Amino acid sequence: MRLGILGAGKIVTEALPVISAVPDIQLAAIFATPRSKEKLLEMQNKYNIEKIYTDLDELLSDDGIDTVYVALPNSLHFDFAKKSLLAGKNVISEKPFVETVDQLIELRAIAKEKSLLLVEAITNQYLPNYQVVKDNLAKLGDIKLVIANYSQYSSRYDAFKAGKISPAFDPTKGGGALMDLNIYNLHLIIGLFGKPANIQYRPNIDENIDTSGIVSLSYPKLQALAIAAKDADGDSSLIIEGTNGRLKVNGAPNTLGSVELTLRNKGSIRLAPDDNHHRMHAEFVQFAELVAKPDPEFVKKRLDHSQQVLKVLEQAHKNL
Ligand SMILES: NC(=O)c1ccc[n+]([C@@H]2O[C@H](COP(=O)([O-])OP(=O)(O)OC[C@H]3O[C@@H](n4cnc5c(N)ncnc54)[C@H](OP(=O)(O)O)[C@@H]3O)[C@@H](O)[C@H]2O)c1
Repeated sequence: MRLGILGAGKIVTEALPVISAVPDIQLAAIFATPRSKEKLLEMQNKYNIEKIYTDLDELLSDDGIDTVYVALPNSLHFDFAKKSLLAGKNVISEKPFVETVDQLIELRAIAKEKSLLLVEAITNQYLPNYQVVKDNLAKLGDIKLVIANYSQYSSRYDAFKAGKISPAFDPTKGGGALMDLNIYNLHLIIGLFGKPANIQYRPNIDENIDTSGIVSLSYPKLQALAIAAKDADGDSSLIIEGTNGRLKVNGAPNTLGSVELTLRNKGSIRLAPDDNHHRMHAEFVQFAELVAKPDPEFVKKRLDHSQQVLKVLEQAHKNL
């Protein structure tokens, strides 16, 4: 995969050491605004990125790039992904994929027509410990309750309280706890249990943005809570409770740490340790594989899942 990266912010800084070490990924180019030129030059030197661009059209007309990674504020994902697809590039977009179901449907139509890859970079769906959870659900008997909690005092919260609003806290840029953190919980819950019958979002609002909140998802025989906070620390984890026992995944729902199974009257066992790799490793290995060897059936399943999550996100937004 010859990758062009769109953005030079926090996630790109974190992703570069990870993706630069994946053998099937060549860092063909990176793009950001002219105000980030210095940063681009630093990244280029440090990770041997072939080219830098501050003009998107120039990057998109570069034949040396087959795939772009959209790592920009949420409200820009749709426009940049659409332009990239229309220019003939495969698209990997950061979470949340786009802001509405209609936007995703439009992107899917272009990708299909042009036989291009379109996927959401959502770490937990590709992590080995996600599969461990899936494989062990049946041991829990009838599953009754699920609690997914991602509570992390944001490094940008103090600035937000002081009036300096970054995109992650800006309602006009697709910010907020639901879009930024609870999206991981929704991917987990919907990935494991499918489409909920009912959903409701109860947010804590500060300066017109949800800085924390709880989504409740009801299924015919199961109740789930998705909890996220950017204004408080918490015991981030995934807990699944059934008639035979419980399963706990330690750590943040974007990383999925060690997995423990506790069966009634039988004690606890550790099903899987913490993953040694950075959380973004598995997804990018998979994306490079999909570019080298297209798998339309797998990609359709991933897109259908992302679309279902977006549908729930849209419903939750109605409570904002
Ligand atoms: N996978 C994960 O674990 C993870 C973690 C964090 C974030 N994310 C996702 O990654 C995305 C980016 O988040 P972030 O925290 O990296 O954001 P960030 O630090 O604010 O960086 C955003 C980048 O977009 C650029 N940008 C802003 N407005 C632009 C415009 N109009 N045209 C072109 N470029 C523009 C910024 O350039 P300037 O600095 O020059 O404005 C900056 O390079 C979000 O969708 C977020 O949800 C994912």
